[in-house]
Amino acid sequence: MLTFITLLSAYLIGSIPSGLIIGKTFYKIDIREHGSKNLGGTNTFRTLGVKAGLTVTIMDILKGTLATFLPLMLGVEMSLLLAGVFAVIGHMFPIFANFRGGKAVATSAGVILAYEPLFFLIVLIIFFISLYISKYVSLSSMIACLLALIYSLVFHSDDWALIIVIGILTIFIFYRHRANIKRIIDKTEPKVKWL
Ligand code: G3P
Repeated sequence: MLTFITLLSAYLIGSIPSGLIIGKTFYKIDIREHGSKNLGGTNTFRTLGVKAGLTVTIMDILKGTLATFLPLMLGVEMSLLLAGVFAVIGHMFPIFANFRGGKAVATSAGVILAYEPLFFLIVLIIFFISLYISKYVSLSSMIACLLALIYSLVFHSDDWALIIVIGILTIFIFYRHRANIKRIIDKTEPKVKWL
């Protein structure tokens, strides 16, 4: 029962629609009606600028981190990473926003941050190197995610829970980027202009 309550709470934390809260409260805008129509940090940057984009990205990361620590905070003996996965599911399909959420990237990064800050830093550096070269946020998110899987296979080969969870998050992220992949192939995916 306690495990169920913890996973439900993790899902509800992930469901907090940061992009919708910031967009509607301060700009009277539903970002899901603008840009890529995604409820995420990138589309908030694109639609509302740096301040809002950064705020939403940080909030989305922290949802994953907080949910991953939830079993510890509640004193429940269970996999911390599993709670993180439920936060990512909440982020993608938020009960507080008609189940139309984001693409799993920032909240997954928050799960990694809770697991091992150095791992998070490495993923972040890979993301920015890829972004500097390609100028595509979506492609860089997918590359960082694949390298995170390789990193966990190489440096945490004895931690099967981590490898399975990163594998699941990789599937989530690629599935949610279907439209981006198509646009990258068609060369219609927007590039960042500030790099
Ligand atoms: O984090 C989502 C990002 O990888 C792509 O977002 O808005 O360009 O589809 P967007």
